[in-house]
Amino acid sequence: MSKAQFPSLRMRRIRQTDWVRRMVAETRLSVDDLIWPIFIQDGKNQSESVAAMSGVNRLSIDLAVEAAKKAADLGIPCMALFPNTPADKRTKDGNEACNPENLICRATHAIKSAVPDIGILCDVALDPYTNHGHDGLLEDEIILNDETVEILAQQALNQVAAGCDIIAPSDMMDGRIGVIRETLEFAGHSDTLIMAYAAKYASAFYGPFREAVGSGDRLKGDKRTYQMNPANSDEALREIALDIAEGADMVMIKPGMPYLDIVKRVKDNFHIPTFAYQVSGEYIMLANAAEQGLMDRQSSIFESLLAFKRAGADGILTYFAIEAAEILNS
Ligand code: PBG
Repeated sequence: MSKAQFPSLRMRRIRQTDWVRRMVAETRLSVDDLIWPIFIQDGKNQSESVAAMSGVNRLSIDLAVEAAKKAADLGIPCMALFPNTPADKRTKDGNEACNPENLICRATHAIKSAVPDIGILCDVALDPYTNHGHDGLLEDEIILNDETVEILAQQALNQVAAGCDIIAPSDMMDGRIGVIRETLEFAGHSDTLIMAYAAKYASAFYGPFREAVGSGDRLKGDKRTYQMNPANSDEALREIALDIAEGADMVMIKPGMPYLDIVKRVKDNFHIPTFAYQVSGEYIMLANAAEQGLMDRQSSIFESLLAFKRAGADGILTYFAIEAAEILNS
C-alpha cells in the first residue's frame, strides 16, 4: 500500500482535464447497454401522447416499425413492447394474452419482419389484458398462483410463435420461470432467451406506466401479495437464485435507481447478465424536472444511466434509450 499523503497525494490530479478523466473512468455507458420500452396501440398512423409520461407516445404498429428502424440505426440492441389493449378485449381471465392476433404478437411479427436485427423482448403478465388490472387470475380477492402460471406459459409460447426473442416474465408468480422454460423446450423453442423480472418490488414508481397501458384505473387493490416488499434485500437474492435455477438466462431488478443496492448485490453474488429497469416513475421525475428547468436534461439522463452501470448492471431498460443513444453517438 502506498504511504503517500497530502501533499504528495493529491486526488485532484486525476480529474484535472477531460482526457485524464476519460482515461481513468471506471465505468462507461454504451448504446449496447440500452433496451427501449415502447407502448403499442391499435390503429394506423397513430401516435398518442401518454398523459402521465411527457415525451412518451403510444404507437400504432406501423409507427412502431418506424421507431424500431430508428432504434436499430442508432445501434440499440433490443426493444421491449407493451400493449394498450382495447377495453373490449380486457376480461376477467385475460385470455387476450394468448390470442395469436393480439397487439403484441402483431407488433412483434411486423417489427421482426422489417427490422430482423433488433431484439424483441415481450413482457409476460396478464395486467394489460385483465379487467381488474392484476398480473394474474383473481378469485375472491386472491391472485391464484398455479392457475396463472399455466396461462403465462401459453402467453409466452404465443409471443415466441410471433417472433419474440426474449421472454420477460414480470408477474412474480412462484415457479413460472421453470414452467415457461419447460413449455418452450417441449415446443422446440430451445433458443428463446428468458429475462426474469426476478426481483420486482411493489412500487409506486409504476404509476405512469399503468396509465400508459390503461391498467391503472382498473386496478383493484395493490400488488403486494406477489410483488416484493421494498424493505427486503435478502429476499431478492432468494428470488434471483430460484429464477436462475429454473432456467433464466438473465435477470432484472425493478425499479432501478431506488434499488441500486439490489443490483450490486445480485451482480456480486450471481455473476449473471443483470439488468435494471429505470421505470416510468423514474423517467417522469427526471423528464419533468428538466422540463421545469430545474435540472439539465442531458446530463441528468446520462448520470442516471451511468449509475446503473457503476452498480453492476449489464444493461438498462429506459424510456430515454433513443435520446441516450443520440447523445452517445454524437
Ligand atoms: C406489468 C409491468 C409493470 C411494469 C412493467 N411490466 C407494471 C406493474 O407491475 O404494475 C412497470 C414499468 C414501468 O413503470 O415503467 N406487470
